[in-house]
Amino acid sequence: MQSTASFLNGPTPVEAAPRLALALGLDSDDLRVKRDDLIGLGGGGNKVRKLQVTMEEAVRSGAETVVTTGAPQSNHARLTAAAGARLGLRVVLVLQGREPESDRGNVLLDKLLGAEIVWSGDQPVEEAADQVERDAGRGRVHRIPFGGSSPSSAEAYVRAGNELLDQVPDVHHVVVAVGSGGTMAGLVTALGATRVLGVDSGAVPDARSVVHGLVRRMRPGGPGTAESLRIDTAQVGDGYEHLGGSTRSALSLAAETEGLVLDPTYSGRAMAGLVAAVKAGSIRPGERTVFLHTGGLPGLFGHDAF
Ligand SMILES: Cc1ncc(COP(=O)(O)O)c(C=O)c1O
Repeated sequence: MQSTASFLNGPTPVEAAPRLALALGLDSDDLRVKRDDLIGLGGGGNKVRKLQVTMEEAVRSGAETVVTTGAPQSNHARLTAAAGARLGLRVVLVLQGREPESDRGNVLLDKLLGAEIVWSGDQPVEEAADQVERDAGRGRVHRIPFGGSSPSSAEAYVRAGNELLDQVPDVHHVVVAVGSGGTMAGLVTALGATRVLGVDSGAVPDARSVVHGLVRRMRPGGPGTAESLRIDTAQVGDGYEHLGGSTRSALSLAAETEGLVLDPTYSGRAMAGLVAAVKAGSIRPGERTVFLHTGGLPGLFGHDAF
């Protein structure tokens, strides 16, 4: 059995983004970008921090196979495949819907990384994954939850929040995409509810209750109500898999001002949320703001609208 290698290579960089700050309507020194997209494993992204925890749990359980679920262009699925390759574990990815005609974006990488893919067809993915688990035999499979979010894996983002505080002690706002909720839940636990603006991607029906549920399970007696969480649901637009106009403009803005490439599902939506927050006056000039770049670049090459 392999021991768990470290998937992280030290604190991720924090970069100034003065041209983007000015274009948003902030002062030029207000904005920082924390580059979790530059984490090394498998193309990088926020999911690696959480997988450091969930894959350690898999190794400790003695499992030979790891099973997880996701949307067809799931970054979590791709990075589970990468982490499994690093550890010599078999990875089965149960992805929503039917097999696409061509392998693009994350699906191409899933296969390159040696994962087996099961398409759920008309069945809900979690049910299809239950079947995969039964077929593999009890005790030999470790199941990683949808999006890799659990109270224990969200602790990785408590550590990331503390890392950020060391790097940017005067941080006033952190803007982050919300999918399965663990990233925001960890940041809220480290930084408090008022400093974290989560931008909903539409991956779950009720992001507020999912994030709040995780926060409560992490710190049962902790402060904070579901209402105190700052969550922008307006960027979901026509739904998780649809690229809205505000996200498209935000992608162009970051790329053209700073050479910063975002993805159409998560980090692009988070940037659209930052644009909207500055317009609405909930993030103001003079307030130190950190945009967390959570990765997802392969999704750009798997998206029909590009
Ligand atoms: C690139 C990217 N950013 C952000 C997120 C959201 O993270 P979380 O699932 O922890 O909310 C995800 C995953 O859903 C992602 O793939």
